[in-house]
Amino acid sequence: MCRQFFIFCILVSAIIGSEAADTCNSSIFPSTFKFGAGTSAFQIEGGWNEDGKSRSWWDWFSNSYSIYINNATGNTASDSYHQYKQDIASMVAMGLPNYRFSLSWTRILPKGLNYSINQAGVDYYNNLLDELEAAGIEPLVTIYHWDTPYALDFLGGWTNPKMVDYFVAYADIAFNLFGDRVKLWATINEPKSFCEGIPSVVVNLFPEMPIGTYEYLCGHHAILAHAKAYRLYKEKYQATQQGRVSLVLDLGYNMGLTNSTVDEDAAERKNLFEFGWFAHPIVYGDYPDIMQEVIANNSARQGFPVSRLPKFTSSEKLLVQGAYDLIMLNTYTSYMITMANYSNSPSYQNDLQTSTSQSSEWLSSGLSTFKVHPEGTRKVLKWISDTYASPEIIITENGFSDNTATLNDTERISFINGTLTNIRLSMCDDGVNVTGYFYWSLIDSMEWNSGYTVKFGLVQVDFDSENHTRTLKNSAYYYKNVIETRLVNG
Ligand code: NOJ
Repeated sequence: MCRQFFIFCILVSAIIGSEAADTCNSSIFPSTFKFGAGTSAFQIEGGWNEDGKSRSWWDWFSNSYSIYINNATGNTASDSYHQYKQDIASMVAMGLPNYRFSLSWTRILPKGLNYSINQAGVDYYNNLLDELEAAGIEPLVTIYHWDTPYALDFLGGWTNPKMVDYFVAYADIAFNLFGDRVKLWATINEPKSFCEGIPSVVVNLFPEMPIGTYEYLCGHHAILAHAKAYRLYKEKYQATQQGRVSLVLDLGYNMGLTNSTVDEDAAERKNLFEFGWFAHPIVYGDYPDIMQEVIANNSARQGFPVSRLPKFTSSEKLLVQGAYDLIMLNTYTSYMITMANYSNSPSYQNDLQTSTSQSSEWLSSGLSTFKVHPEGTRKVLKWISDTYASPEIIITENGFSDNTATLNDTERISFINGTLTNIRLSMCDDGVNVTGYFYWSLIDSMEWNSGYTVKFGLVQVDFDSENHTRTLKNSAYYYKNVIETRLVNG
Protein backbone atom coordinates (compact mmCIF):
# COMPACT_ATOMS: atom_id res chain seq x y z
CA MET A 1 0.00 0.00 0.00
CA CYS A 2 2.84 2.40 0.80
CA ARG A 3 4.13 2.07 -2.71
CA GLN A 4 0.75 3.17 -4.10
CA PHE A 5 -0.09 5.91 -1.59
CA PHE A 6 3.22 7.59 -1.16
CA ILE A 7 1.98 10.87 0.40
CA PHE A 8 -0.30 9.03 2.82
CA CYS A 9 2.64 6.95 3.99
CA ILE A 10 4.82 9.99 4.52
CA LEU A 11 2.05 11.40 6.72
CA VAL A 12 1.78 8.15 8.70
CA SER A 13 5.54 8.23 9.01
CA ALA A 14 5.51 11.70 10.42
CA ILE A 15 2.76 10.75 12.87
CA ILE A 16 4.58 7.69 14.18
CA GLY A 17 7.73 9.72 14.63
CA SER A 18 10.33 7.05 14.05
CA GLU A 19 9.86 7.40 10.33
CA ALA A 20 10.45 11.13 10.16
CA ALA A 21 13.71 10.95 8.24
CA ASP A 22 12.75 8.02 6.03
CA THR A 23 10.06 7.26 3.55
CA CYS A 24 7.86 4.36 4.56
CA ASN A 25 9.48 1.71 2.43
CA SER A 26 8.18 -1.64 3.62
CA SER A 27 11.51 -3.37 2.92
CA ILE A 28 13.79 -0.94 4.75
CA PHE A 29 13.88 -0.27 8.49
CA PRO A 30 14.60 3.30 9.59
CA SER A 31 18.03 4.09 10.99
CA THR A 32 16.53 4.75 14.43
CA PHE A 33 15.07 1.22 14.69
CA LYS A 34 16.76 -0.81 17.43
CA PHE A 35 17.93 -4.28 16.45
CA GLY A 36 19.04 -6.47 19.32
CA ALA A 37 19.02 -9.91 20.92
CA GLY A 38 18.27 -11.05 24.45
CA THR A 39 19.02 -13.51 27.23
CA SER A 40 18.16 -13.94 30.91
CA ALA A 41 20.36 -14.53 33.94
CA PHE A 42 19.16 -17.97 35.04
CA GLN A 43 19.17 -19.25 31.48
CA ILE A 44 22.77 -18.29 30.63
CA GLU A 45 24.88 -17.40 33.66
CA GLY A 46 25.53 -20.58 35.62
CA GLY A 47 27.85 -19.83 38.55
CA TRP A 48 24.74 -20.59 40.57
CA ASN A 49 26.45 -20.71 43.97
CA GLU A 50 29.64 -18.78 43.28
CA ASP A 51 31.02 -15.63 44.88
CA GLY A 52 28.24 -15.18 47.39
CA LYS A 53 25.23 -15.84 45.15
CA SER A 54 22.38 -17.68 46.87
CA ARG A 55 19.71 -19.89 45.32
CA SER A 56 16.79 -18.63 43.33
CA TRP A 57 13.56 -20.59 43.14
CA TRP A 58 14.76 -22.00 39.82
CA ASP A 59 18.10 -23.06 41.31
CA TRP A 60 16.23 -24.91 44.01
CA PHE A 61 13.64 -26.37 41.64
CA SER A 62 16.04 -27.48 38.92
CA ASN A 63 18.31 -29.18 41.45
CA SER A 64 15.43 -30.84 43.30
CA TYR A 65 13.22 -31.81 40.38
CA SER A 66 15.56 -31.94 37.39
CA ILE A 67 14.03 -35.26 36.40
CA TYR A 68 10.93 -33.28 35.36
CA ILE A 69 12.96 -30.95 33.21
CA ASN A 70 15.05 -33.29 31.09
CA ASN A 71 17.62 -33.76 33.86
CA ALA A 72 18.68 -30.17 33.46
CA THR A 73 19.78 -27.58 35.99
CA GLY A 74 20.98 -24.02 35.53
CA ASN A 75 24.12 -24.70 37.58
CA THR A 76 26.43 -24.05 34.65
CA ALA A 77 23.91 -23.10 31.95
CA SER A 78 25.79 -21.34 29.09
CA ASP A 79 28.48 -20.34 31.61
CA SER A 80 28.09 -16.64 30.87
CA TYR A 81 29.13 -15.82 34.43
CA HIS A 82 32.61 -16.78 33.22
CA GLN A 83 32.23 -16.40 29.45
CA TYR A 84 30.49 -13.03 29.20
CA LYS A 85 33.39 -11.62 27.20
CA GLN A 86 32.78 -14.37 24.63
CA ASP A 87 29.13 -13.30 24.51
CA ILE A 88 30.22 -9.74 23.79
CA ALA A 89 32.70 -10.97 21.15
CA SER A 90 29.78 -12.76 19.44
CA MET A 91 27.71 -9.57 19.55
CA VAL A 92 30.58 -7.60 18.05
CA ALA A 93 31.06 -10.23 15.34
CA MET A 94 27.44 -9.82 14.28
CA GLY A 95 27.42 -6.03 14.64
CA LEU A 96 24.67 -6.19 17.27
CA PRO A 97 23.77 -2.68 18.49
CA ASN A 98 21.47 -3.64 21.43
CA TYR A 99 21.57 -6.39 24.04
CA ARG A 100 18.85 -7.36 26.52
CA PHE A 101 19.93 -9.28 29.61
CA SER A 102 18.60 -9.69 33.12
CA LEU A 103 20.05 -9.23 36.59
CA SER A 104 20.11 -12.15 38.99
CA TRP A 105 18.39 -10.94 42.17
CA THR A 106 20.26 -13.47 44.34
CA ARG A 107 23.65 -12.54 42.89
CA ILE A 108 23.12 -8.95 44.01
CA LEU A 109 21.03 -9.58 47.16
CA PRO A 110 21.63 -13.12 48.43
CA LYS A 111 19.06 -12.67 51.21
CA GLY A 112 16.55 -11.27 48.76
CA LEU A 113 16.31 -8.15 50.90
CA ASN A 114 18.33 -4.99 50.54
CA TYR A 115 20.17 -5.04 53.87
CA SER A 116 23.17 -6.84 52.47
CA ILE A 117 24.58 -6.32 49.00
CA ASN A 118 26.93 -8.89 47.47
CA GLN A 119 29.77 -6.82 46.00
CA ALA A 120 30.99 -9.67 43.77
CA GLY A 121 27.57 -9.76 42.10
CA VAL A 122 27.60 -6.01 41.61
CA ASP A 123 31.10 -6.26 40.12
CA TYR A 124 29.93 -8.85 37.61
CA TYR A 125 27.21 -6.57 36.22
CA ASN A 126 29.48 -3.52 36.33
CA ASN A 127 32.05 -5.40 34.27
CA LEU A 128 29.40 -6.59 31.83
CA LEU A 129 27.98 -3.08 31.41
CA ASP A 130 31.43 -1.54 31.03
CA GLU A 131 32.43 -4.07 28.38
CA LEU A 132 29.17 -3.49 26.51
CA GLU A 133 29.77 0.25 26.62
CA ALA A 134 33.31 -0.21 25.32
CA ALA A 135 31.89 -2.29 22.45
CA GLY A 136 29.26 0.38 21.68
CA ILE A 137 26.36 -1.94 22.54
CA GLU A 138 23.32 -0.44 24.27
CA PRO A 139 21.83 -2.48 27.11
CA LEU A 140 18.17 -3.14 27.85
CA VAL A 141 18.16 -4.52 31.39
CA THR A 142 15.44 -6.70 32.87
CA ILE A 143 15.43 -6.45 36.64
CA TYR A 144 13.46 -9.65 37.28
CA HIS A 145 13.25 -12.58 34.86
CA TRP A 146 11.55 -15.27 37.00
CA ASP A 147 14.49 -16.13 39.32
CA THR A 148 12.84 -15.19 42.62
CA PRO A 149 15.14 -15.48 45.65
CA TYR A 150 14.35 -18.82 47.26
CA ALA A 151 14.51 -16.99 50.60
CA LEU A 152 11.51 -14.89 49.53
CA ASP A 153 9.53 -17.94 48.47
CA PHE A 154 9.48 -18.96 52.11
CA LEU A 155 7.54 -15.74 52.63
CA GLY A 156 5.05 -16.59 49.89
CA GLY A 157 6.90 -15.16 46.90
CA TRP A 158 4.66 -13.03 44.68
CA THR A 159 1.53 -13.95 46.65
CA ASN A 160 2.88 -11.98 49.63
CA PRO A 161 1.88 -8.28 49.50
CA LYS A 162 5.29 -7.43 51.03
CA MET A 163 6.89 -8.67 47.82
CA VAL A 164 5.97 -5.30 46.31
CA ASP A 165 8.33 -3.50 48.68
CA TYR A 166 11.03 -6.16 48.45
CA PHE A 167 11.02 -5.81 44.67
CA VAL A 168 11.03 -2.01 44.76
CA ALA A 169 14.00 -2.03 47.16
CA TYR A 170 15.87 -4.33 44.78
CA ALA A 171 14.93 -2.21 41.75
CA ASP A 172 16.12 0.90 43.61
CA ILE A 173 19.54 -0.72 44.04
CA ALA A 174 19.64 -1.69 40.36
CA PHE A 175 18.72 1.86 39.20
CA ASN A 176 21.21 3.38 41.60
CA LEU A 177 24.15 1.12 40.74
CA PHE A 178 23.68 0.66 37.01
CA GLY A 179 21.40 3.47 35.82
CA ASP A 180 24.28 5.65 34.65
CA ARG A 181 24.77 3.15 31.79
CA VAL A 182 21.23 1.78 31.33
CA LYS A 183 18.66 3.85 29.46
CA LEU A 184 16.05 1.14 28.88
CA TRP A 185 14.70 -0.82 31.84
CA ALA A 186 12.23 -3.70 31.99
CA THR A 187 11.11 -4.18 35.57
CA ILE A 188 9.47 -7.59 35.29
CA ASN A 189 9.42 -10.18 32.51
CA GLU A 190 6.17 -11.91 31.49
CA PRO A 191 4.17 -11.88 34.72
CA LYS A 192 1.55 -14.11 33.08
CA SER A 193 4.17 -16.85 32.69
CA PHE A 194 5.30 -16.94 36.29
CA CYS A 195 1.88 -16.25 37.77
CA GLU A 196 -0.09 -18.66 35.60
CA GLY A 197 2.15 -20.73 33.32
CA ILE A 198 4.62 -22.04 35.88
CA PRO A 199 1.99 -22.84 38.56
CA SER A 200 -0.12 -24.69 36.00
CA VAL A 201 2.89 -26.98 35.41
CA VAL A 202 4.10 -27.41 38.99
CA VAL A 203 0.61 -28.04 40.39
CA ASN A 204 1.16 -31.63 39.27
CA LEU A 205 4.04 -31.83 41.75
CA PHE A 206 2.45 -29.72 44.46
CA PRO A 207 -1.28 -30.47 44.31
CA GLU A 208 -1.91 -28.37 47.43
CA MET A 209 -1.19 -25.21 45.43
CA PRO A 210 -4.28 -22.95 45.64
CA ILE A 211 -4.79 -22.68 41.90
CA GLY A 212 -7.36 -20.07 40.89
CA THR A 213 -6.27 -17.82 43.75
CA TYR A 214 -2.48 -17.97 43.38
CA GLU A 215 -2.47 -16.60 39.80
CA TYR A 216 -4.38 -13.39 40.50
CA LEU A 217 -2.65 -12.59 43.80
CA CYS A 218 0.70 -13.03 42.09
CA GLY A 219 -0.35 -10.87 39.13
CA HIS A 220 -1.76 -8.16 41.38
CA HIS A 221 1.46 -7.81 43.34
CA ALA A 222 3.56 -7.92 40.18
CA ILE A 223 1.54 -4.99 38.75
CA LEU A 224 1.89 -2.99 41.96
CA ALA A 225 5.60 -3.80 42.22
CA HIS A 226 6.19 -2.68 38.65
CA ALA A 227 4.19 0.51 39.12
CA LYS A 228 5.95 1.45 42.36
CA ALA A 229 9.36 0.80 40.81
CA TYR A 230 8.33 2.89 37.79
CA ARG A 231 7.24 5.82 40.01
CA LEU A 232 10.41 5.53 42.09
CA TYR A 233 12.52 5.79 38.94
CA LYS A 234 10.63 8.87 37.76
CA GLU A 235 10.97 10.62 41.12
CA LYS A 236 14.48 9.65 42.07
CA TYR A 237 16.42 8.90 38.89
CA GLN A 238 14.69 10.32 35.81
CA ALA A 239 16.28 13.76 36.00
CA THR A 240 19.82 12.46 36.15
CA GLN A 241 19.59 9.16 34.29
CA GLN A 242 17.07 10.00 31.52
CA GLY A 243 16.01 6.40 31.01
CA ARG A 244 12.74 4.74 30.02
CA VAL A 245 10.96 2.04 31.98
CA SER A 246 8.29 -0.55 31.25
CA LEU A 247 7.43 -4.17 31.98
CA VAL A 248 7.55 -7.00 29.46
CA LEU A 249 4.22 -8.59 28.52
CA ASP A 250 3.70 -11.58 26.27
CA LEU A 251 1.02 -12.35 23.76
CA GLY A 252 0.77 -14.84 20.94
CA TYR A 253 -2.04 -13.60 18.73
CA ASN A 254 -5.34 -15.28 19.52
CA MET A 255 -7.66 -15.43 16.51
CA GLY A 256 -11.08 -17.06 16.21
CA LEU A 257 -10.95 -20.66 15.02
CA THR A 258 -13.65 -19.63 12.54
CA ASN A 259 -14.98 -16.16 11.84
CA SER A 260 -18.14 -16.86 13.85
CA THR A 261 -18.98 -14.28 16.51
CA VAL A 262 -18.65 -16.92 19.22
CA ASP A 263 -15.09 -17.77 18.18
CA GLU A 264 -14.07 -14.17 17.66
CA ASP A 265 -15.44 -13.21 21.07
CA ALA A 266 -13.55 -16.12 22.61
CA ALA A 267 -10.32 -14.95 20.96
CA GLU A 268 -10.84 -11.39 22.20
CA ARG A 269 -11.58 -12.70 25.67
CA LYS A 270 -8.29 -14.62 25.62
CA ASN A 271 -6.29 -11.59 24.41
CA LEU A 272 -7.77 -9.61 27.31
CA PHE A 273 -7.19 -12.34 29.89
CA GLU A 274 -3.59 -12.77 28.76
CA PHE A 275 -2.33 -9.32 27.79
CA GLY A 276 -5.11 -7.11 29.17
CA TRP A 277 -4.65 -8.65 32.63
CA PHE A 278 -1.53 -6.44 32.93
CA ALA A 279 -1.87 -3.89 30.12
CA HIS A 280 -5.33 -2.66 31.15
CA PRO A 281 -4.21 -1.64 34.65
CA ILE A 282 -1.13 0.22 33.43
CA VAL A 283 -2.93 1.90 30.53
CA TYR A 284 -6.46 2.36 31.92
CA GLY A 285 -6.06 1.89 35.70
CA ASP A 286 -7.96 -1.38 36.22
CA TYR A 287 -8.44 -4.95 35.03
CA PRO A 288 -10.49 -5.57 31.86
CA ASP A 289 -14.24 -5.58 32.61
CA ILE A 290 -14.57 -9.11 31.35
CA MET A 291 -12.01 -10.41 33.86
CA GLN A 292 -13.67 -8.55 36.72
CA GLU A 293 -17.13 -9.91 35.84
CA VAL A 294 -16.21 -13.49 35.03
CA ILE A 295 -13.93 -14.03 38.01
CA ALA A 296 -16.37 -12.38 40.46
CA ASN A 297 -19.25 -14.55 39.19
CA ASN A 298 -17.24 -17.76 39.21
CA SER A 299 -15.85 -17.00 42.67
CA ALA A 300 -19.36 -16.44 44.08
CA ARG A 301 -20.61 -19.67 42.53
CA GLN A 302 -17.63 -21.54 43.96
CA GLY A 303 -18.35 -20.27 47.47
CA PHE A 304 -15.59 -17.68 47.83
CA PRO A 305 -16.62 -14.72 50.03
CA VAL A 306 -14.98 -12.24 47.62
CA SER A 307 -13.70 -12.39 44.06
CA ARG A 308 -10.46 -14.30 43.57
CA LEU A 309 -9.32 -11.31 41.47
CA PRO A 310 -8.07 -8.68 43.94
CA LYS A 311 -9.29 -5.09 43.61
CA PHE A 312 -7.16 -1.99 43.26
CA THR A 313 -7.91 0.76 45.76
CA SER A 314 -8.47 4.21 44.27
CA SER A 315 -4.95 5.30 45.16
CA GLU A 316 -3.53 2.12 43.64
CA LYS A 317 -5.44 2.86 40.44
CA LEU A 318 -3.69 6.21 40.25
CA LEU A 319 -0.37 4.55 40.97
CA VAL A 320 -0.64 1.94 38.22
CA GLN A 321 -2.37 3.97 35.51
CA GLY A 322 0.24 5.44 33.20
CA ALA A 323 3.16 3.55 34.77
CA TYR A 324 4.87 2.82 31.44
CA ASP A 325 6.95 4.70 28.90
CA LEU A 326 6.33 2.21 26.11
CA ILE A 327 5.02 -1.32 25.63
CA MET A 328 7.56 -4.17 25.66
CA LEU A 329 6.18 -7.23 23.92
CA ASN A 330 7.31 -10.86 23.75
CA THR A 331 5.58 -12.69 20.88
CA TYR A 332 6.34 -16.04 19.30
CA THR A 333 3.33 -17.66 17.68
CA SER A 334 -0.44 -17.51 17.14
CA TYR A 335 -3.38 -19.56 18.35
CA MET A 336 -6.85 -20.44 17.08
CA ILE A 337 -9.48 -20.04 19.74
CA THR A 338 -12.95 -21.30 20.41
CA MET A 339 -15.22 -21.17 23.46
CA ALA A 340 -15.08 -24.26 25.69
CA ASN A 341 -16.95 -25.62 28.66
CA TYR A 342 -14.81 -26.03 31.72
CA SER A 343 -15.37 -27.45 35.14
CA ASN A 344 -16.48 -25.36 38.08
CA SER A 345 -13.24 -25.79 40.03
CA PRO A 346 -11.30 -22.57 40.58
CA SER A 347 -8.49 -21.92 38.11
CA TYR A 348 -7.38 -19.30 35.63
CA GLN A 349 -8.05 -21.75 32.77
CA ASN A 350 -11.60 -22.39 34.01
CA ASP A 351 -12.19 -18.64 34.22
CA LEU A 352 -10.85 -18.23 30.70
CA GLN A 353 -13.01 -21.02 29.25
CA THR A 354 -11.46 -21.18 25.83
CA SER A 355 -9.81 -23.96 23.93
CA THR A 356 -6.72 -23.46 21.83
CA SER A 357 -5.32 -25.10 18.72
CA GLN A 358 -2.79 -24.31 16.04
CA SER A 359 -3.04 -24.86 12.32
CA SER A 360 -1.54 -28.07 10.96
CA GLU A 361 -0.24 -25.92 8.12
CA TRP A 362 2.10 -23.98 10.40
CA LEU A 363 5.65 -25.32 10.59
CA SER A 364 6.62 -26.98 13.87
CA SER A 365 9.51 -25.74 15.98
CA GLY A 366 11.54 -27.03 18.93
CA LEU A 367 8.81 -26.04 21.40
CA SER A 368 5.64 -27.86 20.43
CA THR A 369 3.36 -24.93 21.31
CA PHE A 370 5.41 -22.43 19.28
CA LYS A 371 4.37 -23.23 15.71
CA VAL A 372 5.55 -20.79 13.08
CA HIS A 373 3.11 -18.08 11.98
CA PRO A 374 4.95 -14.80 11.33
CA GLU A 375 1.77 -13.12 10.04
CA GLY A 376 0.52 -13.26 13.63
CA THR A 377 3.16 -10.72 14.61
CA ARG A 378 1.52 -8.09 12.43
CA LYS A 379 -1.91 -8.97 13.83
CA VAL A 380 -0.80 -8.88 17.45
CA LEU A 381 0.88 -5.50 16.92
CA LYS A 382 -2.30 -4.09 15.39
CA TRP A 383 -4.44 -5.46 18.21
CA ILE A 384 -2.20 -3.88 20.85
CA SER A 385 -2.02 -0.59 18.98
CA ASP A 386 -5.81 -0.45 18.54
CA THR A 387 -6.62 -1.57 22.09
CA TYR A 388 -4.05 0.50 23.98
CA ALA A 389 -4.08 3.93 22.30
CA SER A 390 -1.24 3.48 19.77
CA PRO A 391 1.69 3.10 22.13
CA GLU A 392 5.32 2.84 21.13
CA ILE A 393 6.17 -0.88 21.06
CA ILE A 394 9.51 -2.66 21.28
CA ILE A 395 9.46 -6.39 20.60
CA THR A 396 11.64 -7.62 23.45
CA GLU A 397 11.46 -11.29 22.46
CA ASN A 398 10.70 -13.27 19.33
CA GLY A 399 12.53 -16.33 18.11
CA PHE A 400 12.61 -19.79 16.60
CA SER A 401 13.81 -22.91 18.40
CA ASP A 402 15.05 -26.23 17.09
CA ASN A 403 16.29 -29.39 18.73
CA THR A 404 19.52 -29.69 16.80
CA ALA A 405 22.94 -28.17 17.12
CA THR A 406 23.00 -27.20 13.46
CA LEU A 407 24.84 -24.10 12.31
CA ASN A 408 22.98 -24.18 9.01
CA ASP A 409 19.71 -22.95 10.55
CA THR A 410 17.73 -22.04 7.45
CA GLU A 411 14.37 -22.37 9.23
CA ARG A 412 15.44 -19.77 11.80
CA ILE A 413 16.50 -17.40 9.01
CA SER A 414 13.17 -17.66 7.24
CA PHE A 415 11.35 -17.23 10.58
CA ILE A 416 13.22 -14.00 11.33
CA ASN A 417 12.82 -12.76 7.79
CA GLY A 418 9.08 -13.47 7.83
CA THR A 419 8.65 -11.78 11.20
CA LEU A 420 10.65 -8.68 10.28
CA THR A 421 8.71 -8.39 7.03
CA ASN A 422 5.46 -8.42 8.99
CA ILE A 423 6.78 -5.89 11.49
CA ARG A 424 7.73 -3.54 8.69
CA LEU A 425 4.32 -3.96 7.05
CA SER A 426 2.75 -3.23 10.42
CA MET A 427 4.75 -0.01 10.68
CA CYS A 428 4.14 1.13 7.11
CA ASP A 429 0.66 -0.10 6.31
CA ASP A 430 -0.99 -0.23 9.75
CA GLY A 431 0.79 2.78 11.24
CA VAL A 432 1.91 0.85 14.32
CA ASN A 433 4.76 2.54 16.18
CA VAL A 434 7.28 -0.28 16.50
CA THR A 435 10.74 0.99 17.39
CA GLY A 436 12.77 -2.12 18.11
CA TYR A 437 13.17 -5.89 17.72
CA PHE A 438 15.17 -8.12 20.04
CA TYR A 439 15.65 -11.65 18.74
CA TRP A 440 15.41 -14.37 21.41
CA SER A 441 17.93 -15.52 22.12
CA LEU A 442 21.47 -14.38 21.55
CA ILE A 443 22.94 -17.75 22.54
CA ASP A 444 21.65 -21.29 23.14
CA SER A 445 20.65 -21.54 26.79
CA MET A 446 18.65 -23.30 29.49
CA GLU A 447 15.08 -23.33 28.18
CA TRP A 448 13.33 -23.72 31.57
CA ASN A 449 11.45 -27.01 31.80
CA SER A 450 12.72 -28.09 28.38
CA GLY A 451 16.29 -27.88 29.64
CA TYR A 452 18.93 -27.88 26.90
CA THR A 453 16.88 -29.84 24.37
CA VAL A 454 15.45 -26.67 22.85
CA LYS A 455 17.78 -24.16 21.21
CA PHE A 456 16.79 -20.61 20.30
CA GLY A 457 20.27 -19.09 19.83
CA LEU A 458 21.74 -17.13 16.96
CA VAL A 459 24.97 -18.40 18.48
CA GLN A 460 25.57 -22.06 19.21
CA VAL A 461 26.93 -23.00 22.62
CA ASP A 462 28.88 -26.24 22.90
CA PHE A 463 27.64 -27.33 26.33
CA ASP A 464 30.14 -30.21 26.42
CA SER A 465 33.28 -28.16 25.85
CA GLU A 466 35.21 -26.77 28.79
CA ASN A 467 34.77 -23.13 27.80
CA HIS A 468 31.28 -23.57 26.42
CA THR A 469 32.57 -22.51 23.00
CA ARG A 470 30.42 -20.05 21.11
CA THR A 471 30.00 -20.35 17.30
CA LEU A 472 27.88 -18.04 15.17
CA LYS A 473 25.10 -19.83 13.30
CA ASN A 474 24.13 -18.83 9.76
CA SER A 475 21.18 -16.92 11.25
CA ALA A 476 23.67 -14.67 13.06
CA TYR A 477 25.24 -13.77 9.71
CA TYR A 478 21.80 -13.25 8.20
CA TYR A 479 20.91 -10.92 11.11
CA LYS A 480 24.24 -9.10 10.75
CA ASN A 481 23.33 -8.34 7.17
CA VAL A 482 19.87 -7.06 8.18
CA ILE A 483 21.43 -4.83 10.82
CA GLU A 484 23.93 -3.42 8.32
CA THR A 485 21.58 -2.93 5.38
CA ARG A 486 18.29 -2.44 7.35
CA LEU A 487 16.76 -4.45 4.53
CA VAL A 488 14.32 -7.36 4.65
CA ASN A 489 13.00 -9.28 1.67
CA GLY A 490 9.29 -9.90 2.06
C1 NOJ B 1 9.76 -16.20 27.20
C2 NOJ B 1 10.76 -16.09 28.31
O1 NOJ B 1 10.88 -14.75 28.70
C3 NOJ B 1 12.12 -16.68 27.99
O2 NOJ B 1 12.80 -16.81 29.18
C4 NOJ B 1 11.96 -17.99 27.26
O3 NOJ B 1 13.19 -18.62 27.04
C5 NOJ B 1 11.24 -17.74 25.96
N1 NOJ B 1 9.93 -17.20 26.23
C6 NOJ B 1 11.08 -18.98 25.08
O4 NOJ B 1 10.27 -19.90 25.68
